Amino acid sequence: MRFTIDRVGIEYTVDGSRTGIPVIFIHGFPFSKEMWKPQVDALGREYYIVTYDIRGHGASDVGDGQYSLEFFVDDLIALLDHLKISRAVAIGLSMGGYIALRAIERHPDRFRGLVLCDTKSEADNNEGKIRRATQMKTVKTESIQQFAECFLKNVFYEKTFTTNPIAVELIRKTIEASQPIAIAGTLLALAARTDTTASLYTIKVPTLILVGQHDAIAPPSAAHSMKDKIPNATLHTIAHAAHMSNLENSEEFNKHLLQFLKSLKG
Ligand code: MLT
Repeated sequence: MRFTIDRVGIEYTVDGSRTGIPVIFIHGFPFSKEMWKPQVDALGREYYIVTYDIRGHGASDVGDGQYSLEFFVDDLIALLDHLKISRAVAIGLSMGGYIALRAIERHPDRFRGLVLCDTKSEADNNEGKIRRATQMKTVKTESIQQFAECFLKNVFYEKTFTTNPIAVELIRKTIEASQPIAIAGTLLALAARTDTTASLYTIKVPTLILVGQHDAIAPPSAAHSMKDKIPNATLHTIAHAAHMSNLENSEEFNKHLLQFLKSLKG
């Protein structure tokens, strides 16, 4: 299904039951809603499940390729409005977590729970901004395949390449299908995002934090730092996983996710 905001078409899918607790999955960069398949399957019919492609990603429109994390938050809220969902559980991985954290800072009344996966509240430091510039150069002047190759090595645990090649190929194909202008635009948006650390203390909803044991992009130390600041947070480390913990160890990831969602039912 598709809806339009500011002349940009956003592709989304709804699964499960409309009478269940609404949960909205927000993917990482530069992936698509397809990355959530093991979670959508695990949640079954008990929840009202929404997955969508962030602008510039998957089957959503690229638009002019000039993005801000603020636009990504606007799109998320517009999608909730479009679906007439007043309060959802937001589940965000990495960039999806940055979006969820900024969304709850701007619109605290629209969320009833938060799941922060392989993400962090800190903005990019100088080194991070410079790394984004190098990545932008690679997609603009070399090839998306080259960008994908480097990216895969950073996001997957080395053993996953042999234990779960299907997950690696899914992400490779998703990246390779992306438009360079969208990747470059998102890199700029990521480099310019705000730091949400100060707002962690004000999060009132139950929060689950999941992090791959070997995640080097949003490491366990960043996850623990968020847990120390969010008043009602629990944290689990996912074994045998790096940055793509939901794909690399779906079983353990889903166990904690389902437990958390069940606890929200009261
Ligand atoms: C992601 O997985 O969303 C990205 O790796 C996040 C980032 O580069 O900061």
